[in-house]
Amino acid sequence: MTVKKTAILGYPVKKSKSAIIYRHWMEKYGIDGQFDVLETPPSDLEVGIKHLIDNHYAGFCVTVPHKEKVMAFCDDVDGRARQIGATNSIRIENGKLYATNTDVYGFIQNIKKEQPRFDFVYGPAVVLGAGGAARAVVYGLLEQGVPEIRLTNRTRARAEEIAKMSPRIVVIDWEEREEALAAASLLVNTTTLGMEGQDPLEIQLDNLPTTALVNDIVYYPLHTDLLKSAAAQGNPVVTGIGMLLHQACPSFKNWYGIDPEVTDDLKQKVLS
Ligand code: ATR
Repeated sequence: MTVKKTAILGYPVKKSKSAIIYRHWMEKYGIDGQFDVLETPPSDLEVGIKHLIDNHYAGFCVTVPHKEKVMAFCDDVDGRARQIGATNSIRIENGKLYATNTDVYGFIQNIKKEQPRFDFVYGPAVVLGAGGAARAVVYGLLEQGVPEIRLTNRTRARAEEIAKMSPRIVVIDWEEREEALAAASLLVNTTTLGMEGQDPLEIQLDNLPTTALVNDIVYYPLHTDLLKSAAAQGNPVVTGIGMLLHQACPSFKNWYGIDPEVTDDLKQKVLS
Protein backbone atom coordinates (compact mmCIF):
# COMPACT_ATOMS: atom_id res chain seq x y z
CA MET A 1 0.00 0.00 0.00
CA THR A 2 1.27 3.49 -0.79
CA VAL A 3 1.67 6.11 1.89
CA LYS A 4 -1.32 8.45 1.98
CA LYS A 5 0.08 11.97 2.06
CA THR A 6 -1.49 15.14 3.47
CA ALA A 7 -0.08 18.56 4.34
CA ILE A 8 -0.58 22.03 5.71
CA LEU A 9 0.18 25.12 3.65
CA GLY A 10 0.71 28.42 5.41
CA TYR A 11 3.07 31.34 5.86
CA PRO A 12 4.36 31.26 8.50
CA VAL A 13 3.42 27.70 9.34
CA LYS A 14 6.38 26.37 11.34
CA LYS A 15 4.64 26.92 14.68
CA SER A 16 1.38 25.28 13.56
CA LYS A 17 0.11 22.54 15.87
CA SER A 18 -1.55 20.63 13.01
CA ALA A 19 1.36 18.26 12.46
CA ILE A 20 1.23 17.15 16.11
CA ILE A 21 -2.50 16.48 15.85
CA TYR A 22 -2.59 14.60 12.55
CA ARG A 23 0.58 12.58 13.20
CA HIS A 24 -0.80 11.59 16.61
CA TRP A 25 -3.92 10.17 15.00
CA MET A 26 -1.96 8.42 12.23
CA GLU A 27 0.06 6.62 14.87
CA LYS A 28 -2.97 5.91 17.07
CA TYR A 29 -5.03 4.40 14.25
CA GLY A 30 -2.10 2.63 12.55
CA ILE A 31 -2.36 4.61 9.34
CA ASP A 32 0.43 4.48 6.81
CA GLY A 33 0.34 8.21 6.26
CA GLN A 34 2.52 11.25 6.05
CA PHE A 35 1.76 14.83 7.06
CA ASP A 36 4.02 17.56 5.65
CA VAL A 37 4.39 21.13 6.89
CA LEU A 38 4.93 23.26 3.81
CA GLU A 39 6.02 26.87 4.26
CA THR A 40 4.23 28.50 1.32
CA PRO A 41 4.40 32.25 0.67
CA PRO A 42 1.35 33.63 -1.19
CA SER A 43 3.30 33.89 -4.46
CA ASP A 44 3.94 30.11 -4.33
CA LEU A 45 0.41 29.02 -3.47
CA GLU A 46 -0.57 27.87 -6.98
CA VAL A 47 2.70 25.99 -7.52
CA GLY A 48 2.36 24.49 -4.04
CA ILE A 49 -1.11 23.16 -4.79
CA LYS A 50 0.02 21.74 -8.14
CA HIS A 51 2.82 19.93 -6.33
CA LEU A 52 0.25 18.28 -4.05
CA ILE A 53 -1.96 17.22 -6.94
CA ASP A 54 0.95 15.90 -9.02
CA ASN A 55 2.27 13.93 -6.06
CA HIS A 56 -1.10 12.36 -5.27
CA TYR A 57 -1.76 13.93 -1.87
CA ALA A 58 -5.14 12.98 -0.35
CA GLY A 59 -5.74 16.53 0.84
CA PHE A 60 -4.37 19.45 2.78
CA CYS A 61 -5.29 22.17 5.19
CA VAL A 62 -4.47 25.83 4.86
CA THR A 63 -3.84 28.47 7.42
CA VAL A 64 -2.92 32.16 7.43
CA PRO A 65 -2.77 33.84 4.92
CA HIS A 66 -4.33 31.38 2.42
CA LYS A 67 -7.81 30.67 3.81
CA GLU A 68 -9.59 33.03 1.39
CA LYS A 69 -7.28 32.99 -1.66
CA VAL A 70 -7.07 29.22 -1.94
CA MET A 71 -10.75 28.98 -2.84
CA ALA A 72 -9.98 30.32 -6.32
CA PHE A 73 -7.99 27.15 -7.04
CA CYS A 74 -10.67 24.74 -5.84
CA ASP A 75 -13.05 22.85 -8.13
CA ASP A 76 -15.79 22.71 -5.52
CA VAL A 77 -16.33 24.99 -2.50
CA ASP A 78 -19.18 23.86 -0.26
CA GLY A 79 -21.93 26.21 0.95
CA ARG A 80 -20.43 26.61 4.38
CA ALA A 81 -16.99 27.70 3.14
CA ARG A 82 -18.59 29.92 0.52
CA GLN A 83 -20.81 31.74 3.02
CA ILE A 84 -17.99 32.17 5.51
CA GLY A 85 -15.67 33.29 2.71
CA ALA A 86 -12.87 31.02 3.85
CA THR A 87 -11.78 27.39 3.69
CA ASN A 88 -9.29 25.61 5.90
CA SER A 89 -9.66 22.05 4.68
CA ILE A 90 -9.37 20.57 1.21
CA ARG A 91 -9.73 17.02 -0.09
CA ILE A 92 -8.11 15.95 -3.35
CA GLU A 93 -9.87 13.33 -5.43
CA ASN A 94 -8.87 12.43 -8.99
CA GLY A 95 -6.90 15.66 -9.22
CA LYS A 96 -9.88 17.78 -8.19
CA LEU A 97 -10.00 19.98 -5.06
CA TYR A 98 -13.01 19.93 -2.72
CA ALA A 99 -13.03 22.71 -0.10
CA THR A 100 -14.91 23.01 3.16
CA ASN A 101 -14.65 24.95 6.42
CA THR A 102 -14.14 22.89 9.57
CA ASP A 103 -13.57 25.83 11.95
CA VAL A 104 -17.34 26.08 12.45
CA TYR A 105 -17.50 22.45 13.55
CA GLY A 106 -14.45 22.92 15.79
CA PHE A 107 -15.95 25.90 17.56
CA ILE A 108 -19.38 24.35 18.15
CA GLN A 109 -18.08 20.88 19.04
CA ASN A 110 -15.70 22.35 21.63
CA ILE A 111 -18.60 23.99 23.47
CA LYS A 112 -20.84 20.93 23.14
CA LYS A 113 -18.16 18.59 24.53
CA GLU A 114 -17.07 20.89 27.36
CA GLN A 115 -20.54 22.15 28.35
CA PRO A 116 -23.03 19.53 27.15
CA ARG A 117 -25.92 21.22 28.94
CA PHE A 118 -25.39 24.61 27.33
CA ASP A 119 -28.42 25.54 25.24
CA PHE A 120 -27.60 27.69 22.19
CA VAL A 121 -31.21 28.70 21.59
CA TYR A 122 -31.72 29.99 25.12
CA GLY A 123 -30.49 33.57 24.82
CA PRO A 124 -28.36 36.22 23.09
CA ALA A 125 -24.66 35.74 22.35
CA VAL A 126 -22.05 38.50 22.39
CA VAL A 127 -19.21 38.02 19.91
CA LEU A 128 -16.08 40.16 20.22
CA GLY A 129 -14.19 40.65 16.94
CA ALA A 130 -15.01 40.48 13.25
CA GLY A 131 -12.00 38.82 11.62
CA GLY A 132 -11.84 35.46 9.89
CA ALA A 133 -12.37 33.49 13.09
CA ALA A 134 -15.45 35.57 13.93
CA ARG A 135 -17.07 34.67 10.60
CA ALA A 136 -16.86 30.96 11.40
CA VAL A 137 -18.04 31.51 15.00
CA VAL A 138 -21.02 33.60 13.92
CA TYR A 139 -21.96 31.10 11.20
CA GLY A 140 -21.87 28.28 13.76
CA LEU A 141 -24.00 30.19 16.25
CA LEU A 142 -26.59 30.98 13.59
CA GLU A 143 -26.70 27.32 12.58
CA GLN A 144 -27.26 26.33 16.21
CA GLY A 145 -30.25 28.66 16.45
CA VAL A 146 -28.87 31.44 18.68
CA PRO A 147 -31.73 33.98 18.76
CA GLU A 148 -29.55 37.11 18.66
CA ILE A 149 -25.87 37.80 18.08
CA ARG A 150 -24.48 41.08 19.37
CA LEU A 151 -21.40 41.57 17.26
CA THR A 152 -18.87 44.17 18.30
CA ASN A 153 -15.55 45.05 16.71
CA ARG A 154 -13.02 47.88 16.88
CA THR A 155 -13.53 48.40 13.15
CA ARG A 156 -17.31 48.58 12.91
CA ALA A 157 -17.40 48.16 9.13
CA ARG A 158 -16.04 44.60 9.40
CA ALA A 159 -18.84 43.69 11.82
CA GLU A 160 -21.40 45.22 9.47
CA GLU A 161 -20.06 43.06 6.66
CA ILE A 162 -20.59 39.91 8.75
CA ALA A 163 -24.02 41.14 9.83
CA LYS A 164 -25.17 40.68 6.22
CA MET A 165 -25.28 36.95 7.00
CA SER A 166 -28.47 37.27 9.06
CA PRO A 167 -31.00 39.73 10.51
CA ARG A 168 -30.34 38.02 13.85
CA ILE A 169 -26.99 39.85 14.03
CA VAL A 170 -26.95 43.25 15.73
CA VAL A 171 -23.80 45.37 15.38
CA ILE A 172 -22.69 47.14 18.55
CA ASP A 173 -19.99 49.82 18.83
CA TRP A 174 -16.77 48.55 20.38
CA GLU A 175 -17.08 51.23 23.07
CA GLU A 176 -20.48 49.77 24.03
CA ARG A 177 -19.23 46.20 24.45
CA GLU A 178 -19.77 46.10 28.20
CA GLU A 179 -23.40 47.27 27.97
CA ALA A 180 -23.97 44.57 25.33
CA LEU A 181 -23.32 41.88 27.96
CA ALA A 182 -26.64 42.48 29.75
CA ALA A 183 -28.89 39.40 29.69
CA ALA A 184 -26.48 37.52 27.39
CA SER A 185 -26.14 33.76 27.74
CA LEU A 186 -22.87 33.42 25.83
CA LEU A 187 -19.74 35.56 25.38
CA VAL A 188 -17.08 34.60 22.82
CA ASN A 189 -13.79 36.38 22.23
CA THR A 190 -12.60 35.92 18.64
CA THR A 191 -10.13 38.80 18.68
CA THR A 192 -6.41 38.31 19.15
CA LEU A 193 -6.55 40.41 22.31
CA GLY A 194 -5.31 38.56 25.38
CA MET A 195 -3.06 36.29 23.33
CA GLU A 196 0.57 36.02 24.45
CA GLY A 197 2.43 39.01 23.00
CA GLN A 198 -0.77 40.92 22.09
CA ASP A 199 -2.56 43.74 23.86
CA PRO A 200 -4.85 42.76 26.74
CA LEU A 201 -8.59 42.47 26.20
CA GLU A 202 -10.17 45.23 28.23
CA ILE A 203 -13.67 44.34 29.30
CA GLN A 204 -15.46 44.44 32.66
CA LEU A 205 -17.93 41.59 33.07
CA ASP A 206 -20.19 43.20 35.69
CA ASN A 207 -23.18 43.27 33.31
CA LEU A 208 -22.81 39.64 32.28
CA PRO A 209 -25.17 37.24 34.07
CA THR A 210 -23.13 34.73 36.07
CA THR A 211 -24.95 31.91 34.31
CA ALA A 212 -23.54 32.97 30.92
CA LEU A 213 -20.97 30.73 29.28
CA VAL A 214 -17.67 32.41 28.37
CA ASN A 215 -15.43 31.05 25.60
CA ASP A 216 -12.14 32.46 24.38
CA ILE A 217 -10.80 31.11 21.12
CA VAL A 218 -7.33 32.27 22.16
CA TYR A 219 -5.54 29.23 23.64
CA TYR A 220 -2.12 30.68 24.32
CA PRO A 221 -2.30 31.22 27.23
CA LEU A 222 -4.91 28.55 27.84
CA HIS A 223 -6.49 30.43 30.72
CA THR A 224 -6.71 33.95 29.36
CA ASP A 225 -7.44 36.94 31.58
CA LEU A 226 -10.98 36.95 30.17
CA LEU A 227 -11.58 33.36 31.27
CA LYS A 228 -9.96 34.01 34.65
CA SER A 229 -12.22 37.02 35.34
CA ALA A 230 -15.28 35.09 34.19
CA ALA A 231 -14.45 32.08 36.36
CA ALA A 232 -13.77 34.39 39.32
CA GLN A 233 -17.32 35.71 39.16
CA GLY A 234 -18.73 32.21 38.84
CA ASN A 235 -19.35 31.93 35.09
CA PRO A 236 -18.82 28.60 33.35
CA VAL A 237 -15.84 28.85 30.94
CA VAL A 238 -14.55 26.94 27.91
CA THR A 239 -10.93 27.32 26.78
CA GLY A 240 -9.93 27.68 23.13
CA ILE A 241 -7.75 24.60 22.65
CA GLY A 242 -10.72 22.33 21.92
CA MET A 243 -11.67 24.36 18.85
CA LEU A 244 -8.23 23.67 17.36
CA LEU A 245 -8.48 19.96 18.14
CA HIS A 246 -12.06 19.46 16.99
CA GLN A 247 -11.65 21.40 13.74
CA ALA A 248 -9.04 18.81 12.73
CA CYS A 249 -11.47 15.88 13.05
CA PRO A 250 -13.51 16.37 9.85
CA SER A 251 -10.32 16.90 7.83
CA PHE A 252 -8.83 13.66 9.12
CA LYS A 253 -12.08 11.85 8.36
CA ASN A 254 -12.16 13.29 4.82
CA TRP A 255 -8.58 12.26 4.13
CA TYR A 256 -8.20 8.97 6.00
CA GLY A 257 -11.77 7.72 6.47
CA ILE A 258 -11.54 7.54 10.27
CA ASP A 259 -13.44 9.72 12.70
CA PRO A 260 -10.68 10.48 15.22
CA GLU A 261 -11.09 11.05 18.93
CA VAL A 262 -10.06 14.19 20.80
CA THR A 263 -8.45 12.91 23.99
CA ASP A 264 -6.76 14.51 26.99
CA ASP A 265 -3.38 13.09 26.05
CA LEU A 266 -3.61 14.75 22.63
CA LYS A 267 -4.61 18.01 24.30
CA GLN A 268 -1.59 17.80 26.61
CA LYS A 269 0.72 17.00 23.68
CA VAL A 270 -0.49 20.06 21.77
CA LEU A 271 -0.22 22.34 24.80
CA SER A 272 3.28 21.25 25.82
P1 ATR B 1 -8.49 36.17 12.57
O1 ATR B 1 -8.66 35.82 11.13
O2 ATR B 1 -7.59 35.21 13.31
O3 ATR B 1 -9.79 36.42 13.28
P2 ATR B 1 -7.95 38.94 12.03
O4 ATR B 1 -8.75 38.88 10.79
O5 ATR B 1 -6.64 39.65 12.00
O6 ATR B 1 -7.62 37.51 12.60
O7 ATR B 1 -8.87 39.55 13.20
C1 ATR B 1 -8.38 39.92 14.43
C2 ATR B 1 -9.51 40.48 15.28
O8 ATR B 1 -8.94 41.03 16.48
C3 ATR B 1 -10.26 41.63 14.61
O9 ATR B 1 -11.59 41.63 15.06
C4 ATR B 1 -9.50 42.84 15.15
O10 ATR B 1 -10.22 44.05 15.11
P3 ATR B 1 -10.16 44.98 13.79
O11 ATR B 1 -11.10 44.35 12.81
O12 ATR B 1 -10.60 46.30 14.25
O13 ATR B 1 -8.72 44.95 13.33
C5 ATR B 1 -9.27 42.41 16.56
N1 ATR B 1 -8.19 43.17 17.18
C6 ATR B 1 -6.86 43.01 17.00
N2 ATR B 1 -6.17 43.92 17.73
C7 ATR B 1 -7.09 44.68 18.37
C8 ATR B 1 -7.04 45.79 19.29
N3 ATR B 1 -5.87 46.28 19.70
N4 ATR B 1 -8.20 46.30 19.75
C9 ATR B 1 -9.39 45.82 19.36
N5 ATR B 1 -9.52 44.78 18.50
C10 ATR B 1 -8.39 44.22 18.02
